[in-house]
Amino acid sequence: MSDTKIPHLATSLPGPEARAVVARNDRAVTPSLPHAYPLVVERAQGVVVEDVDGNRFLDCAAGIAVCSTGHCHPRVVEAIQEQAARLLHICGADFYDPMYIGLAERLGDLAPGDGPKKVFLGNSGAEAVEAALKLARHHTGRARELAFFGAFHGRTMGAVSLTASKPVYRGGFGPLVPGITHVPYAYCYRCTYNLTYPACNLACVSYIEDMLFARSIPPDEVAAIFVEPVQGEGGYIVPPPGWLSRLRALCDKYDILLVDDEVQSGMGRTGKMFAIEHWGVEPDIVCSAKALASGMPLSAMIARDEVMDWPAGAHGSTFGGNPVSCAAALATLDVIEGEGLMANASRVGERLLGNLRELAEESRLIGDVRGLGLMIGVELVRDKETKEMAKEETDRVARECFERGLLVLPCGPNSIRFSPPLIITEAQADAAFEIFAEALLAVER
Ligand SMILES: Cc1ncc(COP(=O)(O)O)c(C=O)c1O
Repeated sequence: MSDTKIPHLATSLPGPEARAVVARNDRAVTPSLPHAYPLVVERAQGVVVEDVDGNRFLDCAAGIAVCSTGHCHPRVVEAIQEQAARLLHICGADFYDPMYIGLAERLGDLAPGDGPKKVFLGNSGAEAVEAALKLARHHTGRARELAFFGAFHGRTMGAVSLTASKPVYRGGFGPLVPGITHVPYAYCYRCTYNLTYPACNLACVSYIEDMLFARSIPPDEVAAIFVEPVQGEGGYIVPPPGWLSRLRALCDKYDILLVDDEVQSGMGRTGKMFAIEHWGVEPDIVCSAKALASGMPLSAMIARDEVMDWPAGAHGSTFGGNPVSCAAALATLDVIEGEGLMANASRVGERLLGNLRELAEESRLIGDVRGLGLMIGVELVRDKETKEMAKEETDRVARECFERGLLVLPCGPNSIRFSPPLIITEAQADAAFEIFAEALLAVER
């Protein structure tokens, strides 16, 4: 399969093979999986995905921001194959696994903040968040947390209790973990307080102290504030300068831990290894997953030494940090650092962002374009004045892109996200942009 920038569509979509697989899926697979459109993948390489009917797509979804090094990067595949032949599993919880330890050392050094850190490895983003929630309670002896409206932290009971991006994620599962309060994120395009940055003086942070802590939640009962430095599933929302530093200061004032959920934004996607580095803020705990191992299941919860103070047996996992995923992660880090992927994410991301912002001026539907590196969101509205959300149109744009050979995913109620592999070239990003512009026009008509 050649790594072409031009998609190739042999059949109308979905093709006959894809239709047959979708029918089998509907008989055999849980209906809770949302499926954005009927893409049925046979293989993928680099930025190009090929479906079971031989159609080729430019991938700006990357398996939800996972395939950072591109699909099946040869160095990652080689590391996986080599490790799989040597050792598949030993359980880093019960025995000492040099792969687990090697990755922990590397992540501890990479994570933002001075001083030594310790690392717990899990299998998924939710598991890293779950571990952070448990550690925050254990370390502080407190039993409340704050998280943000629009947040997505995962689907296990603790993680979904911190999540507040769509009611369907929470509905029917209550009672959820008690003690979690949601507050407005710094979503300046739709400010909850109807204010404008910077004149707002970050009222969304002041609210936590002046209203919540003053009137309903004793701050000395709060273990942690969970935050995505760029909100992901909620709509790819970039907070304004100063917001994360103000949160850090609030945490410092009341001895609250700042938990940085980098599951979607981390591992170079925004042009830095961890997105929070853009603001020079040091969290107490970092959660990473998705892109960490280029597609192998792996997550990490990284905390300052003095925070990770729970006793043996307090937390663990049978599969977490299995040697094959660790080998993939170490190779992924080599590729991100050695092949200049963060610089590429900044350069190509800037260009794509610029093109989308120009398109926004002519487009009837684009209300806002925002992003950092290759984490770019385009919010669609029916009316630029009232900002009425164009929810159905958003799904239609994603579908029109698919039918033209471009993979993008919606996020939030009415945004399209671009989260391509970090190896995407300018020419491929330009081709993706052209297809997106055509798809958008088709829906606008
Ligand atoms: C910021 C964030 N945290 C946690 C998760 C949960 O990760 P997983 O689906 O691997 O459990 C996600 C998944 O989208 C995420 O975006």
